[in-house]
Amino acid sequence: MRPPPSTDAPPGERWLVTGGTGFIGRRLVEALSAQDVTVLTRHAVCAALPSRVRLVESLDELGADASFDVVVHLAGAPIAAGVWTRARRERILASRPRIAQQLLGLLERAPPPPRVWINASAVGWYGLRGDECLDETAPHRDCFSHAVCAATEAAAVPASEFGVRVAQLRIGLVLARQGGLLARLLPPFQLGLGGPLGSGRQWMSWIERHDLVRLIFHVAADGSLAGAVNATAPHPVDNQAFTRALAQALDRPAFLRVPRAPVTWLLGDLARELLFGGQRVVPTRAVASGFTFRHPRLPEALTQALG
Ligand SMILES: NC(=O)c1ccc[n+]([C@@H]2O[C@H](COP(=O)([O-])OP(=O)(O)OC[C@H]3O[C@@H](n4cnc5c(N)ncnc54)[C@H](OP(=O)(O)O)[C@@H]3O)[C@@H](O)[C@H]2O)c1
Repeated sequence: MRPPPSTDAPPGERWLVTGGTGFIGRRLVEALSAQDVTVLTRHAVCAALPSRVRLVESLDELGADASFDVVVHLAGAPIAAGVWTRARRERILASRPRIAQQLLGLLERAPPPPRVWINASAVGWYGLRGDECLDETAPHRDCFSHAVCAATEAAAVPASEFGVRVAQLRIGLVLARQGGLLARLLPPFQLGLGGPLGSGRQWMSWIERHDLVRLIFHVAADGSLAGAVNATAPHPVDNQAFTRALAQALDRPAFLRVPRAPVTWLLGDLARELLFGGQRVVPTRAVASGFTFRHPRLPEALTQALG
């Protein structure tokens, strides 16, 4: 029989988190208050995490006998921070696999290995698939977002040779006021200057941030979840519906449609893939394994995220 779905991590577990200083990682680390948490960061002095968290800038700082129950790899160069020039594409493509290499080095020297490695991929893995409903069995279409996610996922796979269960979380747009999509949308929407992007027909697969943290705990606990796991709420919406829901949550008008042609001319593939393209993703494996979303529908999730 399947164990009951867990949305809490057992106390005392040892967690190693990369990207623990980021938008998702900070919330995860906060929720791991009864666990022994180590965060790998590039800048320990700037990390501003609770003092109970051990900060390391290199895994060599860990003793030869250091071992962990759970590894969560979230760190990587942000994908939406600027136009995808050749240099930026290279930086984005290389950053997640480079850190994964360091984690693999730790596995080589640290018996016993963690029981699970939770790897942050994204719904961009599926590429641009129009209105198709995408569960974890769906194939991909090539584009830069797919290339980044494929490289991220491939870099973690060798961990399975050490007996580690590797779960590839294909994360949707994470909703919380403190960062990600909402932090970018809030200033124009609060001024009443928001509106749909282009036709507004592109899909947006989203997840409320605390639900994502709960799903990470669930994946850590459920030994059957290896490979791709979509980390999105069960009710994705199109951009038009997202715009309407956000405007309603803020009680502001949102009629200023963002025109596709000039924005795509300025931002190129970034606009084509992230603004005017999207994926309609459903969390089939999470739901089948007993995970329940606290915020399955967008209006309630926005109320929570903006609260
Ligand atoms: N937020 C979303 O909506 C979303 C959606 C889908 C997938 N994801 C994926 O989930 C993961 C976590 O997302 P997030 O929004 O929490 O990320 P984030 O805040 O942008 O960044 C996470 C951490 O990555 C490290 N980092 C930044 N630039 C780096 C670079 N050039 N090289 C190496 N490390 C770098 C930083 O840690 P230090 O400064 O401490 O080193 C940062 O705190 C990412 O891989 C992201 O692609 C996020």
